Amino acid sequence: MDGARESGRDGGLILEVPHVARVSTLDEAADALAAGELVILPTETVYGLAADAGNPIAVAKVFEAKGRPRFNPLIAHVADLEAAERIAVFDERARALAEAFWPGPLTLVLPIRDEALVCDLARAGLPTVAVRVPGHAKARKLLERFGKPVVAPSANRSGRPSPTTFEHAIEETGPSAAAALDGGDCPIGIESTVVSAVDGVRLLRPGAVTRSEIEAVVGSLASANGHGAGSPGRLATHYAPRSPVRIDVEAPREGEAFLGFGPYAGAGPRSFSLSATGDLREAAANLFRMLREADRTHPSAIAVAPIPHEGLGEALNDRLKRAAGFVG
Ligand code: TXA
Ligand code: MG
Repeated sequence: MDGARESGRDGGLILEVPHVARVSTLDEAADALAAGELVILPTETVYGLAADAGNPIAVAKVFEAKGRPRFNPLIAHVADLEAAERIAVFDERARALAEAFWPGPLTLVLPIRDEALVCDLARAGLPTVAVRVPGHAKARKLLERFGKPVVAPSANRSGRPSPTTFEHAIEETGPSAAAALDGGDCPIGIESTVVSAVDGVRLLRPGAVTRSEIEAVVGSLASANGHGAGSPGRLATHYAPRSPVRIDVEAPREGEAFLGFGPYAGAGPRSFSLSATGDLREAAANLFRMLREADRTHPSAIAVAPIPHEGLGEALNDRLKRAAGFVG
């Protein structure tokens, strides 16, 4: 399995997708979770690598498969608000956010209620838990069938772009999974928004639900400054393809791949269009897939057109800055 991944890394081109034939049924996936094994799980945002949140040995396999630092906690996924209230303590604002955005791409960080349901390792020892109810039908069916919380970080190896297609998920962590659910391409393509509702409502990670959509429900957000330690995963450089990334580029240099947006369009085989019409939703759905596709053209770098900061643009620019190594 390492052989297949390494040859992809060396050549920059994945010729062979290991184990891709192993598409599982919902029953097989639920059985794998119950046996303490890992499952490739489609969600509306990105593919996840799922395990039983209450089983520390299964959770340890997730950290190992991703090469993820143990101080970076995982999100617990549940089927509905009732299940979420069994693991976390909701106040009025947290409940209002859950009712507004679940099922869907919002993750709430809340005080933990039941430590047995989401083990210490999954929470990186924190007294809080990140919880979300995904909107993808297959993910919800698996959660209903399994009946317990499931941790599911993005299915990439740590530091790499999140997978938004079944094939990319298999490429990244497929060999570590005992079952894999194919849910097609992820319709949103960028991760959930992470909001802490522990001590005021704070934005810990911009994502698919925009800042203004959240503020429309709970009023203006408290500053996240000084709360970096509350969101441990935000400290790492992230989402990076193999080639260097340059952002806010209006025209690529010779030898570079280009991810265009709106009026900034490239030409030739190394050019990709996040959205020709300047549609941020379309760009979010394309971003991680196109970073991988651009990488496969062996460019000297991947240049990315300027993306406006409003709405979903906040999350897109956050991912691009981290891919370019400007954060961390
Ligand atoms: O869209 C998503 O959220 C995807 C899909 C698969 O659900 N999952 C995902 O998980 O992006 P992951 O592990 O790649 O990112 C989880 C983020 C990390 O930045 C982590 O540090 C933060 O959530 N997080 C988890 N638990 C936390 C906690 N108790 N306090 C603060 N931040 C937490
Ligand atoms: Mg991730």
